[in-house]
Amino acid sequence: MSIDYYEHVWHNGEFIAWKDATIHVASHVVSYASSLFEGIRCYQTPQGPGVFRLPEHTDRLVNSCKIYRMELSYSREQLQQAMVELVRTNQAQHCYIRPIVFRGYGEVGVNAMKNPIEIYLLAWRWGKYLGAEALANGVDVCVSSWHRMAPNTMPAMAKAASNYMNAQLIKMEAITNGYVEGIALDHAGQISEGSGENIFVVKDGKVYTPPLASSVLPGITRDSVITLAREMGFTLTEQALPREILYIADEVFFTGTAAEITPIRSVDRIVVGAGKPGPITKKLQERFLSIVEGRAEDKYGWLTMCAQPVAASR
Ligand SMILES: Cc1ncc(COP(=O)(O)O)c(C=O)c1O
Repeated sequence: MSIDYYEHVWHNGEFIAWKDATIHVASHVVSYASSLFEGIRCYQTPQGPGVFRLPEHTDRLVNSCKIYRMELSYSREQLQQAMVELVRTNQAQHCYIRPIVFRGYGEVGVNAMKNPIEIYLLAWRWGKYLGAEALANGVDVCVSSWHRMAPNTMPAMAKAASNYMNAQLIKMEAITNGYVEGIALDHAGQISEGSGENIFVVKDGKVYTPPLASSVLPGITRDSVITLAREMGFTLTEQALPREILYIADEVFFTGTAAEITPIRSVDRIVVGAGKPGPITKKLQERFLSIVEGRAEDKYGWLTMCAQPVAASR
């Protein structure tokens, strides 16, 4: 497998070649997972490439760093501008942007405070994360035997590399057992989220999603779906959800930058609703995709357009 990457990588304020974006194995991050990152989609629209919710993704990155006592030498605005430049320099019509902040090469040992903080912005082409068919027909998933982090162990609100060791256990177990994805419960046995997605449940026309206290990443797609569901007049509640609601729900779906809005058609081989994407899932999916693909008005200002400014004509 190879990465369908864009050549130019932003590193601490300068563009370098993809092949030069390397680190020493003694870097702090390699032993101690001291890395915070983001995943952002830049969509192709009739008006040129548009980055989805760039300020919110940047805020989450800065917040992740704050939790881990990492001070960045770039402002939110500078980081946003750098990501727009990344898209432009690579002449990307659409891409997945991966900002990574980590503790680099310097001291060895757990104390991270003296190691330099490195920032890289990468971009690559990424299709449909859970498979081409997933968005249209839904996916078969399981409840994982692995739970998400208990409160006050690893901060779930930070998009930290270390949390993805937990996510890898969830994902690998699911795939090994013949599922596309796993749903983790939280420390109390309530529904938390997928290895890389938030989760929503529809029951009797109402929409539910677990609250942040259920060890979930504050997903930007989750937030967008909450906005769209309310715009469409659905009652949406953030509340603790018992595992068994997954089996008797009318509809269940994942949300995430990579997964977008992916219907779930079975959980633990128990068919969800009619076993195909339900009407509310489909409505939300279509509304979401119409905005990000530039087919509908960007009413909430979610896209940061990256088309090169046209030189003013005299
Ligand atoms: C663990 C986890 N939960 C939820 C999400 C969804 O978040 P977002 O919609 O911001 O991509 C992701 C993906 O980033 C994730 O990795």
